[in-house]
Amino acid sequence: MKRVLVVYFSQTGQLASIARTLSEPLASAADCEVEYEALTPRKPYPFPWPVFDFLDAFPETVALEPPEIEPLRADPDQRYDLIILAYTVWFLSPAPPITAFLKSGSGRALLSNTPVVTVVGCRNMWLQAQEDMKALLAEAGARHVDHVALTDRGSSLKTLITTPRWMLTGRRDPFWGVFPRAGIDAADIRDSARFGNALLRALRAGTIDSGEPTLRGLGAAPVDDRLIDSERIGKRSFTIWSKLLRRVGPPGTAARRAVLGIYLVFLVTMIATVVPITMTLRALLRPLRQRKISAQKAYFEQPSGSDRSGIHS
Ligand SMILES: Cc1cc2nc3c(=O)[nH]c(=O)nc-3n(C[C@H](O)[C@H](O)[C@H](O)COP(=O)(O)O)c2cc1C
Repeated sequence: MKRVLVVYFSQTGQLASIARTLSEPLASAADCEVEYEALTPRKPYPFPWPVFDFLDAFPETVALEPPEIEPLRADPDQRYDLIILAYTVWFLSPAPPITAFLKSGSGRALLSNTPVVTVVGCRNMWLQAQEDMKALLAEAGARHVDHVALTDRGSSLKTLITTPRWMLTGRRDPFWGVFPRAGIDAADIRDSARFGNALLRALRAGTIDSGEPTLRGLGAAPVDDRLIDSERIGKRSFTIWSKLLRRVGPPGTAARRAVLGIYLVFLVTMIATVVPITMTLRALLRPLRQRKISAQKAYFEQPSGSDRSGIHS
């Protein structure tokens, strides 16, 4: 009997649905036992988000400061053949309850020396969060064997509107004839079962931890290389503002709200001016930087890659 633990945190249910669908082939196999660990923050995050609460969550999220979470159901002394760690991205960082799991004693006991597949489901910017994730997994002594990334199919420009609209109002329906439904396409969620099928085969064959990623050839982690620079710049800016805001005061205080107001103006100005200018410059310079961009894309797609040649075989 193979034992698999699926750990996730989901606010709207989108990531929960990915975690369930992807692991379904394992859960329905007679020789595999799957346990689900839905992380619960002690102090729930609101949904839909009041705009200031949304912004106020960013300094601690980026600083990877763990919130309190309810005790895990899983026994930390239990050994699993595989842990699937499914997470969403908040402000280019792992969502806080996942950070809390990765930094907790029981989370680390579970992860230590165990093969881990990371699964991210977000708008489209997960590269910097995955860098945090890899560092936290290494600190926990986990063996990171594969990575899956599911993102919104909408263009960056459109999802810059549809995702905050969804988060701040709860509405994710298409609107004005031009903006698509917010979130990950239902077909992409459905198709994520292919990863579970491959993981089941690898568990049975004993190859899950062979050093050769199981999910290669399945289009597991495609990187949009146009976002690499924006993410790097964004993460740097978030880190600076996170330190500043944390110095101003704890979440919810008046002083912090005042600085968050300034930050909001800064952010909107940056998005409206600097981002289009740098994107245009980078598009113009792209032919000269092609080799570097390809190398970066290959780096961020590790370990599972974006090749899809194995999907129909
Ligand atoms: C506070 C907050 C910040 C977010 N920041 C990002 C981000 O930096 N990059 C991104 O691609 N998606 C971002 N998202 C979208 C989430 O990754 C995710 O797609 C969405 O919250 C739905 O996930 P759920 O399953 O938890 O409901 C953010 C969402 C929230 C609530």
